[in-house]
Amino acid sequence: MENILEMKKINKQFFGVKALDNVDFSVKRGEVHILIGENGAGKSTLMKILSGAYHMDSGTIKFDGEELHISNPHYIQNKGISIIYQEFNLIPEMSIAENIFLGREPKKKTGLIDWKKMREETKDLLNKLELDVDPKTIVKTLSVAQQQFVEIAKALSFGAKLIIMDEPSATLTPKEIERLFLVIKELKEHNVSIIYISHHLDEVFQIGDSLTVLRDGKLVNSLSVTSTNKNEIIKMMVGRELKNTYPKRSSKPGKTLLEIKNLSKKNVLKDIEFTLHEGEILGVAGLVGSGRTEMARAIFGADSKDSGEITLNGNDLKINSPKDSIKNKIGLLPEDRKRQGVVLGMSVKSNISLASLERVIKRILINGKLEQQKVGHYFDILKIKAPNQDVLIQSLSGGNQQKVVLAKWLFTDCDIFIFDEPTRGIDVGAKYEIYQLMNKLTDHGKAIIMISSEMPEIIGMSDNVIVMHNGEITGKFKREELTQEKIMTSAAGEVN
Ligand SMILES: Nc1ncnc2c1ncn2[C@@H]1O[C@H](COP(=O)(O)OP(=O)(O)OP(=O)(O)O)[C@@H](O)[C@H]1O
Ligand SMILES: [Mg+2]
Repeated sequence: MENILEMKKINKQFFGVKALDNVDFSVKRGEVHILIGENGAGKSTLMKILSGAYHMDSGTIKFDGEELHISNPHYIQNKGISIIYQEFNLIPEMSIAENIFLGREPKKKTGLIDWKKMREETKDLLNKLELDVDPKTIVKTLSVAQQQFVEIAKALSFGAKLIIMDEPSATLTPKEIERLFLVIKELKEHNVSIIYISHHLDEVFQIGDSLTVLRDGKLVNSLSVTSTNKNEIIKMMVGRELKNTYPKRSSKPGKTLLEIKNLSKKNVLKDIEFTLHEGEILGVAGLVGSGRTEMARAIFGADSKDSGEITLNGNDLKINSPKDSIKNKIGLLPEDRKRQGVVLGMSVKSNISLASLERVIKRILINGKLEQQKVGHYFDILKIKAPNQDVLIQSLSGGNQQKVVLAKWLFTDCDIFIFDEPTRGIDVGAKYEIYQLMNKLTDHGKAIIMISSEMPEIIGMSDNVIVMHNGEITGKFKREELTQEKIMTSAAGEVN
């Protein structure tokens, strides 16, 4: 098969940080090419150069037999390349149809926008993806997963020859991922090439034809998927072997810390009841949309609730806002980090110390040295890849931004942590560090409520598990009795 894309000797530096170092990368026509590597390895940067979002310092790019001189994103769209970014790129206040046809709306003879045609074409695209929503729907009212599919619909609408997907599956349910994979297979049959970035190694073998591994901005290897295996890929990514996926848990749940009773919210949550103990990791399983995030937000005070008693150490708690929670040493790492977790335009350091300023404020002034030191501690533990603490958060790679949000909550010294999808977008090596950190927290008597869509993570890390379906708890399991099947049947709505 011929190469549709050839990128040669690509270099890119950001303020002294070498993000890409002489990288060669090529993709064949009609193949799914997986691009993989640790957080900050340079995957998104390489793709942003291709899409015209970043300029390379040096290198050459050939696409479909022609040398490209990429000046802007429009140029690249016209050549037949579409990119779906890790950070979404839709305009939240506009409808789905408006987003898809932005700047190239179909016109009537009169020169006016042909809304009907635009909606029909959008509907066709959405149907292809089996996304049952009205094209007039305003994008910001869609779930993260739905927005992801709108991005894909948009790429399809360009009739692209090459589609780049930067961690598309991170926010999708298993069912939606299945659908996405079907769409990818269909695209392949039409000779469209796909570049697929993911931290899920299983996906490599499900859909990948070829694989390229980057590490610290350098090309490690490019090979066919059939010629390698999972362990070898991890070794290429991390530079060493990783023996275990989950560290051993030694802490045992102790006395009752938090008790939730009768927590309800009309049409969202129904009679949620559970107990959280000192030193416990309580896994919360369930499908996307089962009410897990809503439960977390209601407990934390980010959303209102109709009823619910919360006691902490036997005392009644009145939580009406996140402030009340933080005062009582309850912290929430939100699922949607991009929108709720980080403050763009602020430094990495300020983002981390934001929720716990009182810890670094000495008298009235912020104690810079103390802040630096404390933040540095989490930098080391989580291996946050940034030139220093003072750079803006948006200059970090997607996964490293996630780590910053995690650091922010660890820094608050809470007693109870609610982690909503804590390892989403995080590479395999760093995941292990985060699990170890969770163990360390619980060894010190802290408790963690861990919402996760990754079954192995739920099974590998939880002492107890609750499973949710349609806003209700449908299953409660102890570590010893946990099986994948039990979780699945409860998640499907069967009460256990
Ligand atoms: N706009 C920018 N300004 C400064 N540095 C940047 C910028 N964009 C990326 N970098 C740096 O370039 C390096 C590579 O980042 P990149 O986003 O390509 O990583 P990635 O492989 O996509 O990681 P992840 O898996 O976390 O998404 C990182 O060190 C990052 O901080
Ligand atoms: Mg990235």
